[in-house]
Amino acid sequence: MTKRKRATELIWIWIMLVISASDNSFYSCKRYLKFSLDCSNIYLGILKARPYPEEYTTFSDISLKNTSLIGLEGNVFDKMTNLKSLYMSNNMLETLNYRLFSKLKYLMHLDLRNNRLIILNDRRLFKSQRTLLHLLLAYNKLTLLDMTVLSPMKSLKVLDLSNNPFVCECQLHLTFLWCERRLLETNATCQFPDLYAGSPWTVLELQNCTESHLPVTSSQSTSPAIVSDSTFLFSGICVIVLLMCVCLAVSVFCWRKFHKITFRSHEVYSNLRHM
Ligand SMILES: *[C@@H]1O[C@H](CO)[C@@H](O)[C@H](O)[C@H]1NC(C)=O
Ligand SMILES: *[C@@H]1O[C@H](CO)[C@@H](O)[C@H](O)[C@H]1NC(C)=O
Ligand SMILES: *[C@@H]1O[C@H](CO)[C@@H](O)[C@H](O)[C@H]1NC(C)=O
Repeated sequence: MTKRKRATELIWIWIMLVISASDNSFYSCKRYLKFSLDCSNIYLGILKARPYPEEYTTFSDISLKNTSLIGLEGNVFDKMTNLKSLYMSNNMLETLNYRLFSKLKYLMHLDLRNNRLIILNDRRLFKSQRTLLHLLLAYNKLTLLDMTVLSPMKSLKVLDLSNNPFVCECQLHLTFLWCERRLLETNATCQFPDLYAGSPWTVLELQNCTESHLPVTSSQSTSPAIVSDSTFLFSGICVIVLLMCVCLAVSVFCWRKFHKITFRSHEVYSNLRHM
């Protein structure tokens, strides 16, 4: 019995060893003092969250450069609440989970150059990045970067968008205007439409993007819908109440009439019996 227990224990230890050997987590990175974690040039592929110890909260910078990253679990940075710099250049990231940076309230530098990001349009992505100063997105595959993704970053000073194949149509117009207003020199260029291929995105200025061209924001589209919904509901309730009143009136009327008839028939019957 004890031998069996030993054997299962050994098997468990072996399994844990195999798992940790192939562990795509921060455990395979080098640590420098309390503040720095260097994973650069290590193969990670997909970076997974682990129950990291408390000391991970002290890191102020992490390098994930050239780690063959293709994916990051959404909560992988949750413990690193004091992170100031995050370097993730030279990887193969195509998308970013919307909650990836949600706990990084003090982040100041974010380097995502040389990845494969295609579209950034989730407004929740940088919602916590109020202190971010530098956002580097050069050498990606960005065709669209929505203004609502950028707008939470109130402190942004440098936004590098160079070498991306942007589609310079009205959907990008608000993003362009937002950057202009903040005097951000993004160096963004257009790839589409063909007319503007290779031109800086300042050509967006020439486009006549009226309100009807702009993507309708959800708040604008839902509020009238909600209003019409509630009015619809209200009128529905009114109709139902009215119907119920009518029904009640009719049933009271019927009940009375019925009683009268039965009463009369009773009378007639008793009269007959008396005769
Ligand atoms: C990236 O990392 C690999 C090892 O995973 C290494 O062979 C290669 O030289 C690195 N590339 C750069 C540009 O540092
Ligand atoms: C844009 O290009 C200019 C000139 O090449 C350069 O000085 C500037 O640093 C670039 N801006 C960004 C954000 O990369
Ligand atoms: C925008 O409108 C102006 C005048 O209304 C016109 O001259 C210009 O050609 C238009 N531009 C485009 C790209 O349609």
